[in-house]
This record gives sequence, C-alpha cells and structure tokens, in this order.
Amino acid sequence: MSKHVYIKTFGCQMNERDSEIMEQLLAQSGYIPVADQTDADLVILNTCSIRAKAEQKVFSLLGSLRKQKQGQPELRIAVAGCVAQQEGKQIFRRMPHVDIVVGTQQLYQLPEMLGRLERKETAREISCNLDKEFSIPPFQRLLKDDAPNQPADFRKFVTIMQGCNNYCSYCVVPTTRGREISRPVADIREEVQLQVNRGVKEITLLGQNVNSYGCTNPVAENPTGFADLLKMVAAVPGVQRLRFTTSNPQDLSTELMQCFRDLPNLCPHFHLPVQAGSNAVLKRMHRKYTRELYLEKVEELRSYCPGIAICTDVIVGFPGETEDDFALTMDLLERVRFHGSFSFKYSDRPHTRSAEFTDKVEEQVKGERLQHFQSRQDAISLERNQEFLDKKIEVMIESNTSTGTQGRTGSNHIVHFSTPTNLRPGDLAWVTITRAGQHSLKGELAPPEAS
Ligand code: SAH
Ligand code: SF4
Ligand code: F3S
Repeated sequence: MSKHVYIKTFGCQMNERDSEIMEQLLAQSGYIPVADQTDADLVILNTCSIRAKAEQKVFSLLGSLRKQKQGQPELRIAVAGCVAQQEGKQIFRRMPHVDIVVGTQQLYQLPEMLGRLERKETAREISCNLDKEFSIPPFQRLLKDDAPNQPADFRKFVTIMQGCNNYCSYCVVPTTRGREISRPVADIREEVQLQVNRGVKEITLLGQNVNSYGCTNPVAENPTGFADLLKMVAAVPGVQRLRFTTSNPQDLSTELMQCFRDLPNLCPHFHLPVQAGSNAVLKRMHRKYTRELYLEKVEELRSYCPGIAICTDVIVGFPGETEDDFALTMDLLERVRFHGSFSFKYSDRPHTRSAEFTDKVEEQVKGERLQHFQSRQDAISLERNQEFLDKKIEVMIESNTSTGTQGRTGSNHIVHFSTPTNLRPGDLAWVTITRAGQHSLKGELAPPEAS
C-alpha cells in the first residue's frame, strides 16, 4: 500500500528547494505527496527560524498535530529545516509526539531514518550535525527515479551555495545553515542542463550571499566568481529567464552589475537587502557597507539597466535604533524608491550577538515604525507600478484558467489579463498594461514584439 506525505514549508526559497528534494527522495521510497495533512501517513514541517514569529508558527502547528496523532497513532511527524537545526533534541522534550528531527544538512538521510523507524529499530530519529566540509550531493542522484510522465515545473530553484559566513549580528542563518560552502561549477551546470532538458524555462540561483560564490569553493582550482557563474548559466541553451537571490551589498561587483546590461535572459529585478538606512545601525548589525555605498551601488546598477526593479529587506527597531536612525531608513526609501520591500520588526534570535544588546526598542515603537515604513512603501510601489501603464511588456505565463491568465514580468511583477489562446505555464506572451495596483498589474494581450 502506498504511503502519503504532506510537507509544509516555512521560510525562504532554500527551504522550498529542500522540500522538493525531500519529496523526490521520499518518492523513491514510495511516498506520494498529498495536499491535506489529514490524509498523510508522514507530515514533515520544513521550518524557519529567522524571526521569533516564524518559530512560534512551527510550534503552534506541532501542537495541532498532537491532536491528529491521538486519533491516528501510526502518523509519523518529522521536523526539518532551521528550527530542527537550532533546537535539536529539545524538540522531543517540548513535543514528545515528534518522531524525527532532521537538520539542514541531513535531509538526504531522511529515507534511511524513516526505514529504521518503520522496522522499529529505533523509537525516534535525530540527525543534526553541521559539517564544515558538507557538500550538496549531485542532483542526478535525486532525479533517477523521478516520475517520467510528470512534467517539470516551468521554473526551478538551483542551490549554488550553502550556509553563510557573514554573521550579521541579528541573524540565525550562520548557526542553522553552517559555514558558507559553494557548490562546484560542474554540478550546477549539470543540474541546470538537466532541468532545461525536462522543460524548465526559468532558473533561480539560490544562496544567502550569492556575491561571495566561489570564495569558499572547496574545489580550490576552480575559483569561479558569481558573475562568471551567472554568465555560464545564462549561456545554457533553453534558459529563457534567469534570476538569483540573495545578494549582499557589501561585495556587489561592477562585473555582476554589468551582467544586467549584457545578459538578455537575466531578469531586470534585483533583491538587494539594505536592512537599515543609518550607518550607526548598519555597523551594529555588522553589515559591512554604509548607506553611501548602498546608494552608489543602486546608482551604478541603474546606469547599466535603467528599468531594473530594485527590492529590499528592512528591519525596524533594531536595538538602539533612535528616531533619527529610523528617519534615515525612511530617507533611504525616498532616495531609492524601491519597487517593493519586505520589512520586519526586529526580534531576538538564539545565539545572535544582538540578542545580548541591552538597548531594545519597545514593541509598540517597533510596530509604529513598521507601519510608517510599509504605508510609505505601498504608496511608492503604486507609483512605481503606474510607470508601466500603456507599456508593452513580455510576461511568462504562470497560470491560464477559465477565470483568467496570470503572468510575471522580468521585473517580477504579476500581470492579470485574459486570453482566448491556449497559453501554458512557461510560455511567453506580450501584454499591454492597462491598470496598475499596489501589488499587481492588469493588461491586455498584445501582438508579439518583432525581435
Ligand atoms: N541573506 C539575506 C537575508 C536572509 S534572511 C541577506 O543577507 O540580506 C531574510 C531577512 O530576514 C533579512 O534580510 C532580514 O531583513 C530579516 N531578518 C533576519 N533576522 C531577523 C531578526 N532577528 N529580526 C527581524 N528580521 C530579521
Ligand atoms: Fe543572515 Fe547576514 Fe548571512 Fe544574510 S548575510 S544570511 S542576514 S548572516
Ligand atoms: Fe528561515 Fe532558515 Fe531560510 S531561518 S529564512 S529557512 S535559511
């Protein structure tokens, strides 16, 4: 009898990619994915610990799974990802109904761990060691039993590096994902090629700090920098769209910025987290750039690619952030006029330096600052989106149903339109923008652009 797995993913795209990998590995052990946790024999929570709220969500879901397990004692519950890495066996103590805790580098062991449980060799399984020499196994191993009839998604993530060495003072990632390690170029090229052969049109390269790709490459004779890697991937025939995330402003090179001018399939969208607009705050965050350097980089980027959509991450209420510091963040928002941003209230995280800082900002003040930032960002996003009005833009189709068609621009904007044609996800189409909202655009199908 086949077994069913439900995987719930929290957090970043790296976790999304890891969930796909777990799904593929488990398919080889006969697990079929289901969309409802109540239909599952195995529930995996692939968790995120980046902010206190993210972690709370995991524990409240685990609480509700306890009830499900009372009525379904054979249900297996696994906790993977960054909370698993951070909490380790504490999870069993807090949540005794959990069967498996699997760390961020151990997801490849999941089938063996489940096998031992099924054979009743062990009552519980845990594997959470972080290995300095860890390397992501080559992708072909995962693909060999991939259901051949199942069409690949039109877009895929390709992880190019693991971990982070930056130690921003507020961030758990260096402890949950370990030391920064770049994957060998040959593995990345092969994975991209395999994905394209399966019909994938858009590739997003993933790393916490892609700009330092290659600095930590275990293959020392292969000192490829990120810009070179990007050029190599862009040149793989069939890669129609290429994106990457995330980039740290501190080592954003001119060579990388020029890729936006020189590589036609590199999408004109750049996620460049600034975190704060005050140099004093940036310094205590251990971000190794200044607001001036950030603004220079934005200007240089726009000189190579004037239409590029720049997005960012911002933390408000970092310990010691004064009204004047926050005003500098608002000022930076006005100067850059980001197309969009993700903004968060600072929260203390385990084993981070800023958790020890004593000058914490009050919750209420953090809330007010967040609201202030977000309402101004919303207004700017709307104005930015209005710049698209009457323009003819190429979109990649994401869905096409009787209720409407959704596509995405290279700049990462969602466009809703309708079409009588049989466009499929991954197809490209031209659309004239007729309406602009804060979070999406509306348009009409236009004749293709002459190339
Ligand atoms: N590697 C990326 C960020 C990954 S984490 C970079 O260097 O920019 C995603 C975002 O979560 C961060 O950019 C930051 O804005 C936010 N974040 C991280 N730790 C946080 C904390 N302790 N409190 C609030 N927000 C946090
Ligand atoms: Fe965290 Fe900083 Fe690394 Fe980003 S660069 S993952 S914020 S430590
Ligand atoms: Fe969250 Fe871990 Fe990603 S903490 S943001 S899932 S690297």
